[in-house]
Amino acid sequence: MVGNQVKLNANGQDFDYPVLSGSVGPDVIDIRKLYAQTGMFTFDPGFTSTASCESALTYIDGDEGVLLHRGYSIEQLSEHSSFMEVSYLMLNGELPSKAELSDFSHTITRHTMLHEQLATFYRGFRRDAHPMAIMCGVVGALSAFYHDSTDIADPMQRKIASHRLIAKMPTIAAMAYKYSVGQPFMYPDNNLSYTGNFLRMTFGVPAEEYEVVPAVEQALDRIFILHADHEQNASTSTVRLAGSSGANPFACIAAGIACLWGPAHGGANEAALNMLKEIGTPDKIPHYIERAKDKNDPFRLMGFGHRVYKNYDPRATVMQKTVREVLAALKVNDPIFDVALQLEEMALNDPYFIEKKLFPNVDFYSGIILSAIGFPTTMFTVLFALARTVGWVAQWNEMISDPGQKIGRPRQLYTGPTQRDYVPLSSR
Ligand code: SDX
Repeated sequence: MVGNQVKLNANGQDFDYPVLSGSVGPDVIDIRKLYAQTGMFTFDPGFTSTASCESALTYIDGDEGVLLHRGYSIEQLSEHSSFMEVSYLMLNGELPSKAELSDFSHTITRHTMLHEQLATFYRGFRRDAHPMAIMCGVVGALSAFYHDSTDIADPMQRKIASHRLIAKMPTIAAMAYKYSVGQPFMYPDNNLSYTGNFLRMTFGVPAEEYEVVPAVEQALDRIFILHADHEQNASTSTVRLAGSSGANPFACIAAGIACLWGPAHGGANEAALNMLKEIGTPDKIPHYIERAKDKNDPFRLMGFGHRVYKNYDPRATVMQKTVREVLAALKVNDPIFDVALQLEEMALNDPYFIEKKLFPNVDFYSGIILSAIGFPTTMFTVLFALARTVGWVAQWNEMISDPGQKIGRPRQLYTGPTQRDYVPLSSR
């Protein structure tokens, strides 16, 4: 590396590529001219060494287990902030004043209702449809109801669409749950907090008052903070790629929901609790750890490992603390938590996991809390999508307002047949 550039020798010719530095984290080699100059592509399936964009939203140091949102650590935000305040921070870049936070919360609160015809949309699903399937469908359908906020060139329409998405996700999620249990939909209550309103729409019934339990409201709000954004993960990259074509924000977020559903990504929280239940008792843990290490066995420890974190996921640390608080507040003694703690202890002392730097991630403990609050496992990834919507929306806005933004269009290493002539059917 010479000065702020690297030299590449290709086909006997030297080429210099600039090295760009961010405010913190790895430098990047700007290879935008590589193909034009060398006729070659880079090759990086899974993007393990590729920076897809410039962003000022979230910084992760995987080796140190650091997660910052607009410079504030996840530890401090989860301890002192609220999901509404973190949402404002992600969208606007700074922590809000008291008046700004009140105004933002007021705006979001008044976007929580859904167009009444969307309620009939649910009735087309089977009652046992996975709530994530419903989320993909209903969120994608929002663009059929909110045409007045789909012009992405208009900053005001982008702002309204952003607020609508953040505000309506809890309502859509709660309705997906209500539909699955055959209970009536609950309308939002503007007197409640963002998270308290979601709890009431989910667990309340029209037949009686619903009392929001402060400890549960605070724990769930913290869980939303822990899931708000996470740099260029698979679903965020999906939202950015969809948005790069000019697709409307509702369609982009629906694409992100679809990607998040995968068990290697957001679907891991549902898979992790199902795995812990399958293990059942601590004496079964060694067998499952051996299975996770067996190359011939597709089984993996769900909620373990991460593309970026090669140290403890800082969100898992906060999540484990929150499990203890919620179980104590609800006076729940969940034996699955003991299995999770012992599984973590054994895995973190196993050479395989140590060598591969596999630690618990955000999905390992979350399911225990959500289950204690009363959510079925099928709702876990829905809650992840609810919270991640603010990150997706912030990343989408950042991409759309970048003057250098262009459609994402990766290339490939082609390994198929070279050109050949068609063979008539009679000759085959
Ligand atoms: C999320 O990207 C993000 O930021 C995502 C996320 C977010 O907030 O958006 O943090 C949310 O998706 C968290 C991750 C949730 N997924 C899981 O918990 C599923 C289980 N974990 C894995 O499938 C895996 O760890 C990934 C998908 C999370 C990461 O996979 P990578 O980076 O592609 O790593 P890899 O699959 O190449 O694994 C490296 C090695 C492999 O062994 P070798 O081929 O080198 O011999 O580690 C092994 C893997 O077999 N390995 C595991 C393992 N995870 C990786 N072995 C056992 N159990 C595991 N969980």
